[in-house]
Amino acid sequence: MKTIAVYTSGGDSPGMNACLRAVVRTAVNSGITVYGIRYGYEGMIEGDFIKMDARSVANIIHRGGTILKTARSKRFLTAEGMQQAKLQIEKFGIEGAVAIGGDGTFRGALALSKICNVHMVGCPGTIDNDLVGTDFTIGYDTAINTVVEAVDKIRDTAESHNRVFIVEVMGRDAGLIALYSGIGSGAEGILIPETKNDLEVLLNRLGEHQREKHSKIIIVAEGDEAGGAFKVQTAINEKYPQFETRVSILGHIQRGGSPSCMERVNASRMGYAAVDALQTGKKSVMIGIVNRKILYTPFTDAVKHLVGPDPSLLKMVDVLAR
Ligand code: F6P
Repeated sequence: MKTIAVYTSGGDSPGMNACLRAVVRTAVNSGITVYGIRYGYEGMIEGDFIKMDARSVANIIHRGGTILKTARSKRFLTAEGMQQAKLQIEKFGIEGAVAIGGDGTFRGALALSKICNVHMVGCPGTIDNDLVGTDFTIGYDTAINTVVEAVDKIRDTAESHNRVFIVEVMGRDAGLIALYSGIGSGAEGILIPETKNDLEVLLNRLGEHQREKHSKIIIVAEGDEAGGAFKVQTAINEKYPQFETRVSILGHIQRGGSPSCMERVNASRMGYAAVDALQTGKKSVMIGIVNRKILYTPFTDAVKHLVGPDPSLLKMVDVLAR
């Protein structure tokens, strides 16, 4: 393989730069020409390709976001957009590409590999940790630490005022950010999309086991079926008018910031493994780390959204959040 491309696509996540650095330097070390595609599939359509070398990825391992920029491309979902992207890939002589992103990114990579003679491999870059075939996606560890840091601060003021705080975190379809950050911050309640009727259970628990607690923290994933933090607040206010409640929506601070050390190491390993995968003829696979070992999972399986919460964790939350 003589020429490859690398791009980041979809929502950014801390550690994408560390992954990009590993891809570029590993490829350059093997004498491969590397193009960075800016703005994900949008840049692919536009031909926004830049030649990269070891120096173009200097001093980025510690930076959040993605120096290649990213986008959620609507045009790439159309037949014309895909054809345009194919022409650019051919024009630049790209034989293999590393896609850094989440499920949408890998669906796009798979679709492209079907109309183009290019080997695609992926590195899981999303704060959601919702891909099959890796214990942790790039960005998740940093995001949950960002949430815990924020919730620790919220707890100080909640405790001072004897208030109930409903903290909304990211996760449209997946509750793993809420679950881990909830456990890590000792939240009194965790509401996630994967468990139905958890609001009802929580409302009962607030009265039964937590009557004597003065302040409480409830973490709710944005995609919970209860409908987000304000809906949960209304339900709590109706059942417990004596509680003083407040809402805090953490939003995009969860997507930024300097990646944790674990993130940087995992991202570097995945980027390194992605180039190796291309060189050894692998295609349409996502690189993951499971039990500390590199694992290759077909894109078709990686995007299945099967990573539900571990039931034993939910049982533990029920015991500890009292
Ligand atoms: O997929 C990552 C994610 O951060 C989700 O948790 C969240 O729902 C979404 O992206 C937000 O996307 P955007 O930045 O496009 O609003």
